[in-house]
Amino acid sequence: MVTRTSQERFRTDKGVFDAFTDRNLFELKSRGYFDELESPIFVGKESNVFSARRGKKKVIIKIYRVQNCDFKRMFQYIKQDPRYETLRNRRREIIFSWTQREYKNLLRAERGKVVVPKVIAVKNNVLVEEFIGDSEPAPPLKDAYPEDPEKFFKEIVKEMKKMYKAKLIHGDLSSFNILNYNGKPVLIDFSQGTLTKTPNSEELLIRDVNNIIKFFKKLGVKADFDKIMERIKK
Ligand SMILES: Nc1ncnc2c1ncn2[C@@H]1O[C@H](COP(=O)(O)OP(=O)(O)O)[C@@H](O)[C@H]1O
Ligand SMILES: [Mg+2]
Repeated sequence: MVTRTSQERFRTDKGVFDAFTDRNLFELKSRGYFDELESPIFVGKESNVFSARRGKKKVIIKIYRVQNCDFKRMFQYIKQDPRYETLRNRRREIIFSWTQREYKNLLRAERGKVVVPKVIAVKNNVLVEEFIGDSEPAPPLKDAYPEDPEKFFKEIVKEMKKMYKAKLIHGDLSSFNILNYNGKPVLIDFSQGTLTKTPNSEELLIRDVNNIIKFFKKLGVKADFDKIMERIKK
């Protein structure tokens, strides 16, 4: 019987990897950032998220599928970010910058002591980051409501405040992008994250705050938009 490595199985079963992505994965692997892909965790419109082994630990590998990415939308977003003002409208360049920006955002958040996965490496369209969870990945908030919603809400606001202080706006904060790890929030998915000096950053912050207030309202938490904004910016 011919046995296949898990990587080969994923490739044939899921059709995930083009040759280019495969090379990037190979390079990250050769540099020791991970040993072997383990299980698919999430298949989104534009990305696939896997767990991978790294020695006795696990890491997360997020792969942007170059063929599926809506690079026009990405370009609209990223060109507003002062860090990418001069980016040219070329499919691959945009997707790589998108991945790299997520890496930079995670790094910035981490330096600001925001509770996020530690970022490990980036190579073109592939991102390696800390695995949040124990044997299983921590569930997103949408699938694991907190026991104490009031407390959880306050903790999220605290994280948003730290983020703001680090001059970063998440831009896509929702119950999908906040993990509930043993009753504590961990913010993930900084792909839309931008600097506070980006022209549309205020708009993004307002949307983030409204999303969180709306979600927690369903769980019985009363919060005033203006007060929360003030707390974040103070
Ligand atoms: N560091 C992580 N640890 C555990 N699970 C993760 C991690 N990063 C992502 N995930 C899981 O993968 C899903 C998709 O990741 P995300 O970065 O939000 O991708 P997308 O940009 O496609 O929304 C998340 O909702 C979460 O369930
Ligand atoms: Mg997400």
